[in-house]
Amino acid sequence: MSADKSAAVISQNQGNVALVLMQSPPVNALSKAVRIGLIEEIKAALNDDSIQAIVISSQQPLFSGGADISEFSGGDFEPPLPDVLDLIENADKPVIAVLNGPAFGGGLEVALACHYRITFAANKVGLPEVNLGILPGAGGTQRLPRLAGVAKALDMIVTGKPAKASTVKGAFDLIVEQPEALMEESLNFINELIKNGAAIKRTKDISIDPASAPAELFAQFRQGIAKQARGFFSPERCIQAVEAAVELPMEAGLKREGELFMECMQSPQARAQQHFFFAERAAGHVDDFDKSTPVRDIKKVGIIGAGTMGGGIAMNFANAGIPVVMLELKQEALDKGLAVIRRNYENSAKKGKLSADDVENRMALLMGATDYDALSDVDLVIEAVFEKMEVKKQVFGKLGEVCKPGAILASNTSTLDLDEIAASTSRPQDVIGLHFFSPANVMKLLEVVKGEKTAADVIKTSMKMAKTIRKVAVLVGVCFGFVGNRMIEPYGRESNRLTLEGASPEQVDKVIYDFGMPMGPNTMGDMAGLDIGYFVRQSRQEFISHDPSYAVVADRLVEEGRVGLKVGKGIYLYEDGSRVPVPDPQVLEIAKQEADKLGVEQRAHSEQEILERCIFPLINEGAQILEEGIAAKSSDIDVIYVYGYGFPVYRGGPMQYADEIGLDKVYQAMCKYRDELGEYGKMWFEPAPLLKQLAEQGKRFADYRK
Ligand code: 3HC
Ligand code: NAI
Repeated sequence: MSADKSAAVISQNQGNVALVLMQSPPVNALSKAVRIGLIEEIKAALNDDSIQAIVISSQQPLFSGGADISEFSGGDFEPPLPDVLDLIENADKPVIAVLNGPAFGGGLEVALACHYRITFAANKVGLPEVNLGILPGAGGTQRLPRLAGVAKALDMIVTGKPAKASTVKGAFDLIVEQPEALMEESLNFINELIKNGAAIKRTKDISIDPASAPAELFAQFRQGIAKQARGFFSPERCIQAVEAAVELPMEAGLKREGELFMECMQSPQARAQQHFFFAERAAGHVDDFDKSTPVRDIKKVGIIGAGTMGGGIAMNFANAGIPVVMLELKQEALDKGLAVIRRNYENSAKKGKLSADDVENRMALLMGATDYDALSDVDLVIEAVFEKMEVKKQVFGKLGEVCKPGAILASNTSTLDLDEIAASTSRPQDVIGLHFFSPANVMKLLEVVKGEKTAADVIKTSMKMAKTIRKVAVLVGVCFGFVGNRMIEPYGRESNRLTLEGASPEQVDKVIYDFGMPMGPNTMGDMAGLDIGYFVRQSRQEFISHDPSYAVVADRLVEEGRVGLKVGKGIYLYEDGSRVPVPDPQVLEIAKQEADKLGVEQRAHSEQEILERCIFPLINEGAQILEEGIAAKSSDIDVIYVYGYGFPVYRGGPMQYADEIGLDKVYQAMCKYRDELGEYGKMWFEPAPLLKQLAEQGKRFADYRK
């Protein structure tokens, strides 16, 4: 028994029962120290004649968050987790897992290898390995189907979603209702077991009835997840591993699981998804504040403008139970905005996502106002009025006067200079950008924009507030378009230019869709409305006027009233209210006319060229952003792209994608297009100095800190 009370695993004997307790904060990941500790403590209990049963549980609020993901890249798997599980399963004294909190991945696999499992009804368990691009590699794919049935196991393993313990029938021998009573009831159960001769129930001895898992079950399952699993490598391997559980005896099944696990683990997708796991968490670690920085209380929020964004933003706060005052200049606009919110909630209720009471409770948190005095007691105000500097300045001037001292004044601007907005108030230190993405009640991303004078506690409070409203916040600096929209600009530009050069919009879209984006840039442009980009271009002539070909096809379409899906025609046609894009030869004709006017030669493009020309300049802009310090680390950019733009998580985000394929490759391709595309290439394909530097040094974006 470990005498070291701070060891990763300790034992406490309770009569003839040994309690083996993991205590490795924050989540009891099954690190080397925990695996060694488990082996030592279990062996000690097995060798102790006074011990008749062994409990595995935890001193932390979680049972275990699974294998230690940070060890994966180092490849130190000794002693292997399956060895720990073999020791448990083959033990000749009963081993009982008492799940005092959530058990995920390897954590749940430890429990599945025990002879008995006990938990409380509301506890959460899951095998989320698929989200890391791998599969449960410590017997989970073989043991869970044996205990919980093949259909339930397939669902849990392939979707990776946590399940309430009470819904995982068969996996538990005792489920108590009250978490507080768990240990006492467990010990009663175990003492009873011992009294009755304590049978050792090994999961590996359970055989699966093949009739319970016919081939159609797997075929239907594959079909059911085809859309969400598009492009992903590991879900299919997860299914194959569960098939092996049905078709093979335990030992052979474990071997097959091991092979499939290694196939996944060595894939670029596993690296990408594991990178993303840490990227998402690292986004919350910022240098601008520390533990000693205070946090302001956000008990009431004001929102100015009840339009598309204001309404969505307000819903986030109402969903979190925070009262909101919505301010518009005119009562009609206010009524309209509130009616849209009510309709959204009622639609959710129709789909069964909310109860009628939820709808009313949330609406009751939304108060309307047309007078700025209503904002005198809010702790945070978010402005979402028209994207015009004069209007924003007027609003912020007013906010400086009416809001109480210490209130945070935020803008949802997507393009305007936050520092200029801040200068229009008497308290620029309280001003911050909170850039939500549309639809704001749905999209998880929040770019938190720090101005030159934004106070550290305002940043810290905003990052914390994002968690309260269930957003993933990334801190960025001030520049045109911030990180996300600034990087999307070259992507859209190249898509347009490729059409001018003769690539059809559907060809471009297919390449990008096959790369893994939810849709191609042309479909996206039509959905967002081509007029949006058009107006931005009008206000940014100084940036693009040196390129006469800049977005000329899109400009022509807008000028002809073809602004996209909302009017039934844009780059594509949408017939009779359908949302399905239909290619239009007329657009090719427009592209041809414009190309002729500009003397641009039309030609065929390979898929590789299309992909590289859309994605590499976006990455190049990311390099520029890093070098300028607008984003603090490349993983922050990845989080923005996965959550804000649907960049495939199995590529880890654009910067991880570049790191994976090699920065030298991206650099050389940028040079190639710069040299091959004539004047146009010189204008837009100059590699960013940081890309050049890192490529030459054989480094990665992930290594770079300004
Ligand atoms: N390995 C290493 N570190 C982990 C970890 C793990 N399995 N799980 C969490 N962490 C770290 C996080 O990176 C974070 O570190 P930070 O504070 O330095 O940023 C810290 O623990 C706290 O994590 P969260 O902020 O996510 O804490 P929450 O309380 O919000 O969530 C959790 C806890 C639900 C356990 C969540 O962390 C989680 O989902 N973890 C991953 C679960 C998982 O995927 N398990 C499978 C691992 S792979 C495996 O088991 C393979 C096996 O089959 C062989
Ligand atoms: P919108 O036109 O739908 O809504 C703006 C609302 O503000 C209108 O209801 C208008 O009546 C109101 N308003 C205008 N001036 C006002 C004033 N002085 N006081 C009070 N209310 C006033 O516009 P949308 O799309 O909601 O955009 C708002 C802001 O959000 C803009 O800054 C925009 O750039 C930004 N944004 C928009 C995104 C989008 O996809 N629509 C995405 C991210 C940011």
